[in-house]
Amino acid sequence: MLSKNASLKKLNSFGLNVTTKTIFLLTHENQLPELITAVNVAKNNHQPVLILGGGTNILFCENFNGLIIKVELSGIDLVETHDHFFLNVSAGENWHQLVVYATQNNIRGLENLALIPGVVGAAPVQNIGAYGVEFEQICEKVKVIDLITGKLVTLSNKECEFSYRYSIFKTKQMANALITSVTLKLKKNWRPQNSYGALKALGESVTAQQIFTQVCEIRKEKLPDIHVLGNAGSFFKNPIVGETQLSHLLKTYPNVAYYPYKTGEFKLAAAWLIDHAKLKGFQIGGALVHQQHALVLINKGNASPADVLNLAWHVREVVQIKFGVLLEHEVCFINKNGVTTLVKEITRVRSE
Ligand code: EPU
Repeated sequence: MLSKNASLKKLNSFGLNVTTKTIFLLTHENQLPELITAVNVAKNNHQPVLILGGGTNILFCENFNGLIIKVELSGIDLVETHDHFFLNVSAGENWHQLVVYATQNNIRGLENLALIPGVVGAAPVQNIGAYGVEFEQICEKVKVIDLITGKLVTLSNKECEFSYRYSIFKTKQMANALITSVTLKLKKNWRPQNSYGALKALGESVTAQQIFTQVCEIRKEKLPDIHVLGNAGSFFKNPIVGETQLSHLLKTYPNVAYYPYKTGEFKLAAAWLIDHAKLKGFQIGGALVHQQHALVLINKGNASPADVLNLAWHVREVVQIKFGVLLEHEVCFINKNGVTTLVKEITRVRSE
């Protein structure tokens, strides 16, 4: 279904008051031919096309000047083999509801990823991860449709080119690919992943249900509920630094929070850096740095896109001056023409 001049306020978890020229609600695969026509019309009119899932990892920097495709495809299919469960899940299913369904049915391996906001189709795009588990560890394949040609393609785990908060779906090559479903592969011979600090205490004989409950508790305590306070989860990525930069930092800040990443590389906790730059509670207009978790920027209710951009820029500058570390945003920035960056948008906003 195609609508014109639609509000996006309820379709982005930041709750920013922005609009789109047109929006297509994709609820069933039989709408695909109609969708492809709509995409071609937009392209012929030089209008941008954006695929939107739950809108929980996105910052609309201004009104969108093209076609938004809101993916609401639904359905969960379970296939069982001797050693594995395979879950074929449509892209519009709610991620957390999937985790609940799996955990309740004794299909284990998703419990660490409880309460991550958003829909299943968005999970491969940024390779969602939390508490020691990343989507790439459980992904078997991803089905996409090319919105220009209508061709259906299946990508294997390897072809998705996953890394930290990254996949091939973030590249230009996949710009016209709409994820329709994912297949998860979960071992029957499950082992708990409880290496993360607060989960360690649960011990080796912990059940998936206990991990699920604990993860929900930690997240509820630290991270603001998007239904109560507008936000998009972690706003910045945890920066990756080399050994030299880390030891340099440790000389001045021996308590800096970091984890080993790949050989010779370390992930710094961006939340620690922002917190220790004393930015918690710092506010610009209606946007502020969350008091409970410094990596989350929130909309107090009336924030404009410019408020969020100015706040993000301030955080980036202060952290860079204090620690010499450059923060990159994890949230996907969208301007009137499509994907953009903080640097480009702050320049635009300040020149207006
Ligand atoms: N910390 C502070 N101050 C704060 C918050 C945290 O100093 O205000 C410190 C903590 O004490 C800890 C460190 O920072 O030492 C890391 O904090 P936390 O364990 O909360 O995790 P994170 O690194 O900030 C990442 C993911 C989260 C994911 C958690 C748990 C990224 C960008 N974020 O956050 O993912 O839930 O680990 O695994 O990788 C998301 O992507 O939206 C998201 C919430």
